[in-house]
Amino acid sequence: MDGEGRLAFLLLLFMFSLLSRVSDNTVAEVAAYADVAKRIIELAVFGAAQNRSYKRLADFADTIGSRVSGSPNLDMAIKYMFSVMKQDGLDVHLEPVKIPHWVRGTESAEMIEPRVKNLAVLGLGSSVGTPPEGIEAEVLVVQSFEELKCRASEATGKIVVFNQPFISYGETVAYRAYGASEAAKLGAVATLIRSVTPYSINSPHTGWQDYQDGVKRIPTACITVEDAELMWRFSQRKQKIVVRLKMGAKTLPDADSFNTVAEIRGWQHPEQVVLLSGHLDSWDVGQGAMDDGGGAMISWEALSLIKDLGLRPRRTLRTVLWTAEEQGGVGAQQYFNLHKVNMSNFDLVMESDLGTFSPVGLRFTGSDAAQKVMEEVVKLLAPINTTKLELNGEGTDISPWMQAGVPGASLHVADSRYFWFHHSEGDTMTVQNPRDMDLCSALWAVVAYVVADLQDMLPR
Ligand SMILES: *[C@@H]1O[C@H](CO)[C@@H](O)[C@H](O)[C@H]1NC(C)=O
Ligand SMILES: *[C@@H]1O[C@H](CO)[C@@H](O)[C@H](O)[C@H]1NC(C)=O
Ligand SMILES: *[C@@H]1O[C@H](CO)[C@@H](O)[C@H](O)[C@H]1NC(C)=O
Ligand SMILES: [Zn+2]
Repeated sequence: MDGEGRLAFLLLLFMFSLLSRVSDNTVAEVAAYADVAKRIIELAVFGAAQNRSYKRLADFADTIGSRVSGSPNLDMAIKYMFSVMKQDGLDVHLEPVKIPHWVRGTESAEMIEPRVKNLAVLGLGSSVGTPPEGIEAEVLVVQSFEELKCRASEATGKIVVFNQPFISYGETVAYRAYGASEAAKLGAVATLIRSVTPYSINSPHTGWQDYQDGVKRIPTACITVEDAELMWRFSQRKQKIVVRLKMGAKTLPDADSFNTVAEIRGWQHPEQVVLLSGHLDSWDVGQGAMDDGGGAMISWEALSLIKDLGLRPRRTLRTVLWTAEEQGGVGAQQYFNLHKVNMSNFDLVMESDLGTFSPVGLRFTGSDAAQKVMEEVVKLLAPINTTKLELNGEGTDISPWMQAGVPGASLHVADSRYFWFHHSEGDTMTVQNPRDMDLCSALWAVVAYVVADLQDMLPR
């Protein structure tokens, strides 16, 4: 090794020792929040705030009901949250967004051959309607896009029924999203998609679907697992199936809406932000209690807990209740476009949109150095046994930030039943549980508060 090499080596050694000292400091700095974390957890889970996020959600979801993009209910929901969060003593404001306005209208489906049977249906968001007399046609049942390709010549003039098995939401949702356009390319007149759920009591599940540009727009709706399998069995027996589908769906001009924003301003760096979020819109069935009333309520509750304890972090805590998430993250995308000029001031973006069941841990996306800090932060959750930091924070509404390099976190809950209720009449308060919501709120509040109060922002 020559002189320069030795110098470089020593310099490197010095930098490493500095780095590890910084990280030792971080460990101690975060550990010093153990008492504050305990107080937050105590208040949320055992103290005066026990059951509060559940009660808030019940008041909200029972009063307003479902809140689909563009509906008067969604407007009411925004006004409601604006008012209750203001009464709670938070700084609240609204940020305008133009959102899609699709209306379902009346709809029905009936199997006419080989026997007469009513089919439970839910039209899919953005679908066109049928003529008033409906569409009556023979059915082609397929189990996959591959099978549809193989049987392309049989699809012309038919209603294509997709009876794809449920693998995972992420994979199987492709049938709901693209089934109509794929079938329309082959001359189909409508599509009926098996609901994307691992469990069914004859429940149809709605959701967004995407028409491809340049492809004829045909009506598309979800049917139940039971009816999809029934028609599959008929088709295996070579029995002719005929269905009549009526849908009054239409798309109106975009509507005015808002992202709802509530803050506790930071005392030292008010321009720097830890963002907590859930979406306020839902589908037009059930109560949107689980998707995503729960996520919205714990994102409010976290701020309430911190305020009730008289705490105020160095940085601003900002709760954003997104609008029109179900239409493809419309409110969140606009928020990103508008606020990305201040990207360097976004410390952490958080989203809860996979239910507020019993919390399991925090999912996180960020640099290795940020991950090290977050591993220390979740240790503060020992009193509620959720000290696990997992990789891959996720969520439609925070993904633009994470893709741009801002650290992101999402709530991981015991979500095995989430898709049982998702986008169906079954998404009601009956799915929710006050203790689970207390635990979720505690986790959300501790993580947000501590990250917002550390000396330094999370390293990028
Ligand atoms: C919270 O609800 C449980 C029942 O779910 C009840 O036993 C408890 O007393 C409630 N706590 C408060 C503070 O209302
Ligand atoms: C960007 O941050 C500055 C400083 O906090 C603030 O005054 C401004 O309103 C922010 N702009 C946007 C679009 O958020
Ligand atoms: C955490 O786990 C301990 C030990 O199993 C248990 O006594 C305690 O009740 C748990 N706490 C919560 C909030 O679940
Ligand atoms: Zn959702």
